[in-house]
Amino acid sequence: MTLGLGTMTILKRGQEEASSILRTALEEGITHFDTADVYANGAVESLIGQTFSPEDRARLFLASKGGNRMNATGTGWTWDPSHDYLKHACMESLNRLETHYLDLYYVHGGTIEDDIDASIQAMEDLVAEGRIKAYGLSSIRPNVIKHWLEHSNISYLMTPYSLLDRRIETLLPALQEKGVKLVARGPLAKGLLTPEWDSRLQSTDQFEQYDHGALERLLPELAKYPLPAVALQAVDSKADIVLAGASSVSQLRANIESMRETLPAGAVETVLGLCPVHPYTDHL
Ligand SMILES: NC(=O)c1ccc[n+]([C@@H]2O[C@H](COP(=O)([O-])OP(=O)(O)OC[C@H]3O[C@@H](n4cnc5c(N)ncnc54)[C@H](OP(=O)(O)O)[C@@H]3O)[C@@H](O)[C@H]2O)c1
Repeated sequence: MTLGLGTMTILKRGQEEASSILRTALEEGITHFDTADVYANGAVESLIGQTFSPEDRARLFLASKGGNRMNATGTGWTWDPSHDYLKHACMESLNRLETHYLDLYYVHGGTIEDDIDASIQAMEDLVAEGRIKAYGLSSIRPNVIKHWLEHSNISYLMTPYSLLDRRIETLLPALQEKGVKLVARGPLAKGLLTPEWDSRLQSTDQFEQYDHGALERLLPELAKYPLPAVALQAVDSKADIVLAGASSVSQLRANIESMRETLPAGAVETVLGLCPVHPYTDHL
């Protein structure tokens, strides 16, 4: 199973539920856990560190992200992808996660104006020092993604990828040429691609390239197939890791079952046919 757990929203219903989400995921065979220093100001990383034992750690693929420098009051952050800050941030994440190494560390965004060479050097240093096994980029910007593909040894790219946002498919050949794995974040479009699509649509003005009217036309067509199974399996057919989020154990269990569900023949191809690959229009 290539389902990973995104931990950005796990604390929504409190610490106990979040811990259960983490434990259930591992018990059900999920090993790829994605987090970041900024999720609840480090509280999600700390919870992961407290929840998993050293024996569990050996089974985990632990990924985190850095580059956002939190302010002293914990009310916000400023972007800092400098060499020294990334190295410092990684050490802080390791401390909170109670581990000596990360399987994967991402630069958490950035623009083409950054000193990207300095960020790359920080990542290379962290690999050389044994702090991280591999590094990646989390970005929505095609110009930044192309720069990292050309000038670094990234192993992973995290980017939005769902039936409602297939733009990254235009860069799949470049990723494959460099052997870079695609981690698809947001495969459920924040719940729009689940059985709750109708109620969630009521409070959604637009999602990526779709305005409310376009969503009103498309979502009922997609919902003729089992959701979220068809949404997750469509992404699974092209990405290396399907990184779904969950804010309850029941959501997590539904997503695990959906990845395993046997779909009607041709369902994935049909829904992919309903959802065009839009081109990137910004940050070219
Ligand atoms: N810049 C970055 O690097 C970046 C940005 C965003 C995310 N990420 C990573 O990617 C992960 C996934 O992102 P995401 O949270 O946007 O993805 P997502 O999987 O599209 O959405 C997750 C949300 O969908 C709802 N949901 C999940 N399963 C459901 C189910 N079975 N039925 C109904 N609703 C369900 C929940 O919303 P409710 O909580 O509202 O119920 C949940 O919080 C994050 O956790 C994080 O690790 C990275």
